[in-house]
This record gives sequence, C-alpha cells and structure tokens, in this order.
Amino acid sequence: MECSSLIVLDSNALIKVWLTELRDVHTKSEQFRTILGRLTYPLVYAALSDLKVKSTQVSTPLEETVGYVFTEEVAVATILRAALGMVAPIQEILPEAKIFHIDMYRDEETLQPVWGRSKIPMECENFVWLVPDPMLATGGSAIATISRLKERGAKRIVYLGVIAAPEGIKALSDTHPDVRIVVATVDRKLSDGQSKYPKGYILPGLGDAGDRQFGT
Ligand code: PRP
Ligand code: URA
Repeated sequence: MECSSLIVLDSNALIKVWLTELRDVHTKSEQFRTILGRLTYPLVYAALSDLKVKSTQVSTPLEETVGYVFTEEVAVATILRAALGMVAPIQEILPEAKIFHIDMYRDEETLQPVWGRSKIPMECENFVWLVPDPMLATGGSAIATISRLKERGAKRIVYLGVIAAPEGIKALSDTHPDVRIVVATVDRKLSDGQSKYPKGYILPGLGDAGDRQFGT
C-alpha cells in the first residue's frame, strides 16, 4: 500500500494474535472490548512517538539524571460509537488528554457520514489531535472529522484505527496527506453490496465494531 504516512503494526506477533481474537465471530462483547482496549496501547505509542518533550532533571533514589516532560497537549476526537472502546486506554496513557466527542454515523445506503452533535472546540490549533476509530472503511467518517478539526485550526492530527480497507487509506491520505495513519492491519477490500454482505463493510474485517462492542 503506497502511503508515506501509513504505519501498520501487524508484523508484531502480539498484534497478529489479538487481531485474530477480535475478528472471531465467536468472541463475545466483553472479550471484544478487552482486546480492543489492549490493541489501543501500541496504536497510541506509534501515533505519538514524536510528541515533543523537553529535558528535565529527575532524582532517582540513587542520583540525579536527565528526564523528559511533554511540551505538547493531546486532544482526542472520539467518533461515536465505535471509538468509545479506545478512549479508556488513551486516558490511561495520557491522563491529561482532553476528550471530545463527535456524534456521527454512516448512512447505510449512501455510506456518507451524517453529523449529529459535535463537542470539539472552536480553537483546535494548540493540540496534537488523535482521531481514534476502530474501522477505516470508505474513510468518510475520518475525513469529515479531520476536515472539521482543520477548519478550526488543527495542525497536527493522527488517525488511529484497528482495521483499514485499502479504499479508506487511499481516500484519507489523498484528502489529508499530512495526517499520519496508524492501523493494526490493512484488509482486502470493501464489500460492494453485490454479495451476501452489506455494502461498505471491510472484508474480511470483524463486522460492525459498534455492535460487537456493545452487544447490539
Ligand atoms: C463505523 C465505524 C466508523 C465508520 C467507518 O461507524 O465506527 O466510524 O463506520 O466507516 P467509513 O470509513 O466508511 O466512514 P458507524 O457509522 O457504523 O456507527 P457506529 O460506530 O455507531 O456503529
Ligand atoms: N464500520 C464497521 O463497524 N465495520 C465495517 O466493516 C465498516 C464500517
């Protein structure tokens, strides 16, 4: 997949196994949520590997040494519903991160994102933005969210997801080439609606990430 800002983590043995469990149709909601949370940690590490820090002094029980503190603030644009399961791990890693919510869903027929209430601030410039969403299918939801963040001044944005379709990566990187894309894996393609599967689902994928988390 040609995309300069794409990071894919599935060469890692742990990620291969967790993805298998997440995909499995027999995995129940509770376990699904646990694994989604587990997968979020390495995604965040890769997403923010170059977050700016400055050096400081730290005293160990034995002596003084050099340490680091963050100099950038992180904010999260959580796309409802499916990204909810990624928020607790992000907060655990970055307790100070500001968490905003984007109430958006994909119209099942047109596959276009439909906006509801959005709680992102009018001024987005001073944050490094994380946009988590487990599934990057057509890319419509991520693209619309990132466009809104940029309209409000956001400059540094990272998308993090679990499973991406090649179509979604292309659409996102064509529209927002400056955005880093971090995913656990890239799947085969999107369903076209001609087969037994509904249109716009990632194949092989894991089904509907929202439904699988919340048992709906
Ligand atoms: C899913 C998923 C993404 C979107 C991805 O949400 O969580 O937000 O689809 O598809 P796209 O890349 O084609 O936009 P959905 O609209 O099904 O809502 P839900 O999370 O509430 O189930
Ligand atoms: N949203 C999902 O939850 N799953 C898909 O396969 C595509 C979009």
